[in-house]
Amino acid sequence: MESLTNGTYSGDAAMAGRLMIPLDYPDAARARVLMEQLKGIPCYMKVGMQLFYAAGPDFVRELKDSGYSVFLDVKMHDIPNTVRGGAESITRLGVDMFNVHASGGTAMMAAALEGAEKAIAADPSLKLPLIIAVTQLTSTSQQVMNDEIGIPGAVEDAVIRYAKLAAASGLHGVVASPQESAAIALACGPAFRTVTPGIRPAGASLDDQSRVMTPGQAIRQGSHYLVVGRPITAAADPRAAALTILEEMSQA
Ligand code: C5P
Repeated sequence: MESLTNGTYSGDAAMAGRLMIPLDYPDAARARVLMEQLKGIPCYMKVGMQLFYAAGPDFVRELKDSGYSVFLDVKMHDIPNTVRGGAESITRLGVDMFNVHASGGTAMMAAALEGAEKAIAADPSLKLPLIIAVTQLTSTSQQVMNDEIGIPGAVEDAVIRYAKLAAASGLHGVVASPQESAAIALACGPAFRTVTPGIRPAGASLDDQSRVMTPGQAIRQGSHYLVVGRPITAAADPRAAALTILEEMSQA
């Protein structure tokens, strides 16, 4: 087990930076409870729509001031001009990563990059966030993709096609199932990031996830970032759960 002294983390900090914890809470006060429990562990914090729409830019700045890397998971999908402006505002917040839907197309994805670059041109103290594309939501079955959305074929083929479009648009990676990380690396190169939810330690509850991998398997498959929610956030001792997962990631 990695050891902790006075809230500081003496384990593998680079590996901790690959563990993303979703702050899926209705308000900042509840998110701060988990932050306190995980204090000192230099993990990535993922802020999704629920928390961002409630607590807004101020809470993102609070996370940054506390030293966390922040993934703003707001999955933009709009006309290029609107996404360009959204990306510019998000980049000014100083986040480390944000995302857009690949199904918005290459012009929209390129506009996200342009918006981020415009913010940096205006304030060179900012750094370019990693811009990640959502491929096919893991909640979408092949039947829904084929019959409702109208995309034929297998989900994995659609994911790879979207990943290639994201790479061609200059984006830095995709959100995907860990089961797709290796195929995405083959299609888009090993530096193209994969951000993978659907992580469950051996024996843990699957909750509503279906195609899962353990933390060790996901690292071995080449996932760059592991999004681990309920196995940590719903644990009786979230800190101990996070440290056990980090240990497994380090050993992989
Ligand atoms: O609790 P759990 O580990 O399932 O949480 C996974 C996190 O990853 C949640 O914040 C969920 O919204 C997010 N996510 C996901 N599947 C996707 C994209 C995001 O589970 N395809």
